[in-house]
Amino acid sequence: MTITKKIITSASLLSSDLTDIANEVRRCENAGVDLIHFDVMDGRFVDQITYGAPVLKWVRKATTMPLDVHLMVQDPTKQIDYFAQAGADIITIHAESDCDIPRCLDNIRELGVKASLSLKPNTPAKAALDYIDKCDMILVMTVEPGYGGQSFMEDMMPKVTEIRRYADENGFPELDIQVDGGINPETAAKAIAAGANVLVAGTSLFKAKDMRELNNALKG
Ligand code: DX5
Ligand code: ZN
Repeated sequence: MTITKKIITSASLLSSDLTDIANEVRRCENAGVDLIHFDVMDGRFVDQITYGAPVLKWVRKATTMPLDVHLMVQDPTKQIDYFAQAGADIITIHAESDCDIPRCLDNIRELGVKASLSLKPNTPAKAALDYIDKCDMILVMTVEPGYGGQSFMEDMMPKVTEIRRYADENGFPELDIQVDGGINPETAAKAIAAGANVLVAGTSLFKAKDMRELNNALKG
């Protein structure tokens, strides 16, 4: 599959040095990373608990980079407003969460934020395609959500291609498709070939000797 869309990178702060978050964000900016990915875990949808909107507010103060919020929470309904107020530019909710999905997606857009819907590995493309008109982006998880540093699931690539084909054939050429989990230069190339254009990377970017070089390598 040939994709002509611009490739966008998003740095997952989960793998950054959180004692030095403002500098870590600056490092991403200087390396040419496009977005900051903010993984919100509530200890229910996934086991871990990370951070919430009050922390995003501090990240917002540290940078003008667009903030890409990934809500791994059981019920995102109330959180949408908090994260929009805290300065999110993109908010992703999960198709498997306990909320009124179309209403939440509409609510995100009404707040002037880009709306995105995410699929866990066992969730079929249809769960997002049903709401494609309400989505600026669809996130195909390439690991089980919950932890950084896991291995890329290559068997998610047909799902990426299915979504890209459907979007192209049904009048949604602008749709962004994000992949998240285990992204490094090698797996990024596979995801781009399958039709993804937004790459989340945590471990590979923050552990790189040269973040700029790695970021360029992700873009291919
Ligand atoms: C996993 C998170 C990811 C993760 C990516 O639940 O959604 O954003 O932090 O980290 P790496 O790139 O290390 O797989
Ligand atoms: Zn994420």
